[in-house]
Amino acid sequence: MSRVVKDMPEKGQTILRLSNISKHFGAVSALTDIELEVKAGEVVALVGDNGAGKSTLIKVLAGVHQPSSGTIEFCGQNVTLDSPGKALELGIATVFQDLALCENLDVVANLFLGHELSPWGLDEVAMEVRAWTLLRELAARIPSVREPIASLSGGQRQTVAIARSLLLDPKIIMLDEPTAALGVAQTAEVLNLIERVRERGLGVIIISHNMEDVRAVADRIVVLRLGRNNGVFTPDSSNQDLVAAITGATENAVSRRLDRKTGATHETSGRPA
Ligand SMILES: Nc1ncnc2c1ncn2[C@@H]1O[C@H](COP(=O)(O)OP(=O)(O)O)[C@@H](O)[C@H]1O
Ligand SMILES: [Mg+2]
Repeated sequence: MSRVVKDMPEKGQTILRLSNISKHFGAVSALTDIELEVKAGEVVALVGDNGAGKSTLIKVLAGVHQPSSGTIEFCGQNVTLDSPGKALELGIATVFQDLALCENLDVVANLFLGHELSPWGLDEVAMEVRAWTLLRELAARIPSVREPIASLSGGQRQTVAIARSLLLDPKIIMLDEPTAALGVAQTAEVLNLIERVRERGLGVIIISHNMEDVRAVADRIVVLRLGRNNGVFTPDSSNQDLVAAITGATENAVSRRLDRKTGATHETSGRPA
């Protein structure tokens, strides 16, 4: 892959701005009029219940899905992300939930998979040095870069996947549930790593179900509900407000429930079941 020399935006500068992004799959509206902004050196958490549209939004930004309408501005320019290659080339990297690592290959091989340093043959020494340097910069705890992925913990695998995405010098990195399968210590390690990535001046978008993790690492918390924006929060927003935005509890404070048997409507108050 050709390496484009890219200047890193200043911290606090807007890297990515989505306006009115909608995505339909046939009759299903997965996203409706989504607004999202990500700045350099900022971690934005994307939260919402199952089906809220989080994965669809990530896939639109990764160039996997084309939006049905709306605009995507990247570093001040309107862009079309019509393929995953295009998104990567611009500097939007994605670590999908399955990580896509090769179990039998070592850390170095996984880091450089598909973008080996020398096109005429693998420069093993250079790749190993680059791997060590990057992992050290990220304060990653990997015992050896010659260790096969199969022998690493879940947290270490996540670290390798994140490090791999950084090798292309992205401006934005998107992480889909990076701590979902991890224990306490490994989660802390990955959250630490996300902070290192933020310090490098990247914009980070993290999807997570874990509000504790979200509060620990996010600068802003963007709630999606049923494919729409449903509020922006800070880590010190109350849990009640955040949960209400995620579940729609406030809008359902008084809601009508249709009784399927009788066809009558009941008024219910309080949080929906
Ligand atoms: N490829 C697809 N085809 C049809 N419907 C889809 C597709 N991907 C997602 N959806 C629908 O879009 C909505 C949002 O899904 P998704 O983005 O996966 O939500 P989340 O990741 O927040 O759980 C859901 O109703 C889902 O069924
Ligand atoms: Mg999802």
